[in-house]
Amino acid sequence: MGSAVYGRLAMNCYCVVFLFVALHFAHGDVSYTIAEEMKGGFVIGNIAKDLGLGIATLSSRKGRIDTDRDDKRYCDINLSTGDLTVSDRIDRESLCGKKASCVLKEELVLENPLELHRISIHVQDINDNAPEFSEDLISLEIRESADKGARFLLTEARDADIGTNAVQRYNLQNNEHFTINVNTDVSGRKHSELVLLKELDREKEKGLKLVLTAVDGGSPQRSGTAIIHITVLDANDNAPVFSQAVYEASLPENSLLDTVVVTVSATDADTGPNGDITYNFDHVSDEHVSLFSLNHKTGEVKVIGSLDYETESSIELRVRAKDGPGSRTSDFKFVTSYNDNTLPADQTLKKSPSDFVDVFRDSDGSPEVG
Ligand SMILES: *[C@@H]1O[C@H](CO)[C@@H](O)[C@H](O)[C@H]1NC(C)=O
Repeated sequence: MGSAVYGRLAMNCYCVVFLFVALHFAHGDVSYTIAEEMKGGFVIGNIAKDLGLGIATLSSRKGRIDTDRDDKRYCDINLSTGDLTVSDRIDRESLCGKKASCVLKEELVLENPLELHRISIHVQDINDNAPEFSEDLISLEIRESADKGARFLLTEARDADIGTNAVQRYNLQNNEHFTINVNTDVSGRKHSELVLLKELDREKEKGLKLVLTAVDGGSPQRSGTAIIHITVLDANDNAPVFSQAVYEASLPENSLLDTVVVTVSATDADTGPNGDITYNFDHVSDEHVSLFSLNHKTGEVKVIGSLDYETESSIELRVRAKDGPGSRTSDFKFVTSYNDNTLPADQTLKKSPSDFVDVFRDSDGSPEVG
């Protein structure tokens, strides 16, 4: 009975002493600063000297390094020298990510009596990572109608390092169309954007490739690159162009129905719907509409009525080519002269050219596009 009580008292005493010891040696903390990625065996410092412990004490009290983390010890103690050395790879990026301060907390443990010294190891960043783009190819689609000064955000390059070892600058391959602009936000991240200096023209250049480089501020400096591939999208910036300014045709007045008079043809430098051409008569009188048909898609003009030389010896029709969903048009005339097939052939030939000229001159004089 009595001995049990003493035993409990003794235990209580021990606890008090232990606490006293722990508090006492809280003053014996040491702190070191080392660069990350030092080789195994690198001497961080002499902990025996820094704590005022003799080498003999270290080994007799079984000095060892323990860690706050259960998983890994990053340093060791050499009991014959008192040196604290690197024992495992210290990679700042995997330990602390983007944190500005990275501290490893270890403990020196001595036995008989138990004694703990906290060791703080401040791990400094080295420039061991290069800036990296999440994709090697940055694809952008920019419409050729984009105005000068238009901006296009680029994907950021990431650098696992911190401070000046992280991305500091972006460089863009020299070119006539774009420059680069870099903005730094409140958190210090740098965002880059392309700025259009000179307008694009899809009809001249369907796309362009530019090398983008992200550079960090470390020594030695490291960089990462990506290719910006710009696809220039079509805008309806081109009007249809007819293959001829004037289409001329000569017909006998008794031409059969469905005789093809002429096929007008226009081309458009734009693509897709912007280059889709339809043909229509433009301001054609009702009488003439009843004489000729026009295929909207093919541009084929056919006779659909009976032609009478005595009423009119030549006719001027205007055809309009329209591209896309209603944006641009071109007007072109074609002149059809038809002859009375009772006239001698040579007379017809002599007469026809001047007829065309007259008809042309008499037209409404609206400007020709082309
Ligand atoms: C301790 O340091 C001594 C002297 O530098 C060295 O010879 C010995 O190999 C080291 N011991 C360990 C375990 O690293």
